[in-house]
Amino acid sequence: MDTTILQLADHVGKSVTLHGWVLRNTPKGKLVFVTLRDGTGYCQCIIERNEATESFFDEAKHLTQESAVEVTGTVSADERAVGGYELRVSSLKTIGTAVDYPITPKPHGIDFLMKQRHLWFRSQRQYVILRIRATLVDAIRRYFNDNGFVLIDTPIFAPAAGEETSTLFSVDYFGEPVYLAQTGQLYVETACMAHRKVYCFGPTFRAEKSKTRRHLTEFWMVEPEIAFATLDDVIDLAEDMTCALVERVLADHRADLEFLGRDIAALERIKKPFHRISYSEAADILRGPQAKELLEQGLADKTAEVKQLTRKIEELVETGKTAKKKWQQEKAAQEEQAARERRSELEEEITNIPKHMQLAAEFRWGSDLGGSDETIISRLHERPVFVHRYPKGVKAFYMRVDRQDDRVVENFDMLAPEGVGEIIGGSAREEDYDILRSRIHEEGLPQEPYEWYLDLRRYGSVPHGGFGLGVERTVAWICGVKHLRETIPFPRMMGKIYP
Ligand code: 4AD
Ligand code: MG
Repeated sequence: MDTTILQLADHVGKSVTLHGWVLRNTPKGKLVFVTLRDGTGYCQCIIERNEATESFFDEAKHLTQESAVEVTGTVSADERAVGGYELRVSSLKTIGTAVDYPITPKPHGIDFLMKQRHLWFRSQRQYVILRIRATLVDAIRRYFNDNGFVLIDTPIFAPAAGEETSTLFSVDYFGEPVYLAQTGQLYVETACMAHRKVYCFGPTFRAEKSKTRRHLTEFWMVEPEIAFATLDDVIDLAEDMTCALVERVLADHRADLEFLGRDIAALERIKKPFHRISYSEAADILRGPQAKELLEQGLADKTAEVKQLTRKIEELVETGKTAKKKWQQEKAAQEEQAARERRSELEEEITNIPKHMQLAAEFRWGSDLGGSDETIISRLHERPVFVHRYPKGVKAFYMRVDRQDDRVVENFDMLAPEGVGEIIGGSAREEDYDILRSRIHEEGLPQEPYEWYLDLRRYGSVPHGGFGLGVERTVAWICGVKHLRETIPFPRMMGKIYP
C-alpha cells in the first residue's frame, strides 16, 4: 500500500510503499541504512542482505544522496529511530539517480547555498522554516477572516508612491512610468470606507539599496485597515493579532522550533499587554544609563564568547585531524564552520558597539530611530514594544497629525523583543482634507496622482487607521533566524536574483 512517512503510525506491522529521496546512506557489512525523506518526514530504511534482497542489495549499497527511490517494507515502531518508525525493506527501485549532489554533509558557505537555493530547499532547516512560514500565513488569514475583516486584493501596478519615493521600482506601463506597489495601504483605506474592516495581503516591492539582514526588495505584507478607528484601536489590534500568531506557531511547530534551537520560553512570554512608550520616551531611554549599561554588558558578554569560541575551534581542528571515522571528521568540520561563522558575526558586532553607543548617547529628538536604536529598545523589553508618536518629519505624509502636539504624528512601530526590532508599522490616517493636502505638498509630492485618495477626505471622511506586518521579519523573529534570506522561498535582494 502506498503511504507517506507522516502516516507510518497507522501501518505498524504492515507492509507499505514509500516514495522519497535518499538523505543519507550508510552501508555496514550485511546491512544498509538509508535515511529517506519524502516531504512529510524522515524514516530509516534498513536493507539486510539475504536471499530476498539479493537482487537490489548492491543497488541499495550504492544509492547516492538525493537519488529518488521507491521502497516497500514492513513498518516497526522504534523510539530511537528518526521520526519514531523504521522500515525493513523487501523491495527497492531507483526512480531518479542523483550524481554528485552539490550540497553535501560537508560545510558550505552562505554564498554557495544562496546560489543553490533551488536545492538548498531540501535541507531540513530550510524545510522547517518554510513550513512555519506557511502556518504563519494561514494563521494571519484566519485571524482576519474570523474577526470580520474583508479581504481586498490591491493592485501591484501603482500610479503613485505609498511610502518613501527613494525606494520606488518603476516599470514602463505602455510608455507611462508607474511603480511596483510598496504598500496596499492607500487602496485598503478606500476599501474600509465601503466595508469598514478590511485587509490586503500580498507581495510588496522596495528598491532597498543597502544590503542588510532586515531588508528584501520583494517581501510580503498583510495590511488591515479599519474605519472609525483611533490609534489605540489599531495598536490593540496589532497586539491581539501578534499573540494569536505566536500562539498558533507554538501549537503547531514546537518540535520544529526546538530543531531550530529557538528559545521557546521567550515566545511563550508573548502575552498581552505589550509595552507602549512614546518616541520621546524612547529617545530618553537611548540617551540614558540603561542603554549604556546594556551595550557595555553586551560588549563584555560577546568578548567572552569570542574567547570561548576560539578555544572550541582549536579543539575541533584537532578532532578533525585525529578522528578515525569519516562521519566524525565531517561532524567536526561542520561544527568548526558554525563556530567560525558565529565568531566572525560576534567580532563584527563588537566593532560596531562603540558606534552604536555613540549614536544612542547623542540621539537627537527629530531623527528616526536607526536599526541599532531599535535593537537597544527591543533588548530592554521582554515583550514587544509599541513606540508611538514619531516626529512628523521622519514619517509618511498620510499619518494623522497629533492634535495635542503637532510636531508628531499618530503612528507606531511595533518592535519585537530579543533585539529583533520593527516587524509592524502603522498609524491613524490623516482624515482632514486641508491638512492632508498640505502634507502632500510638504513632502514634495505631486497632488494629481493623489486626487482619488483626497476624495476619501471629500466625501464622508472619518477617522481610520491600520498597520502593515512584514511576513519575513515575523518568520525571522519566531524562528530565531537572523537573516531574512532564509524566510522567503526565493529571496530578492540588491544584487541577488538567481535562481
Ligand atoms: O513600516 P512600513 O514601511 O509600513 C507600511 O508600508 C505601511 N503602509 C503599512 C500600513 O500602515 N498599512 O512597512 C511595514 C512592515 C515593516 O514593519 C516590516 O515588517 C516590513 O513591512 N518591511 C520590510 N520587510 C522586508 N524588507 C523590507 N525592505 C521591508 N520594508 C518594510
Ligand atoms: Mg516602518
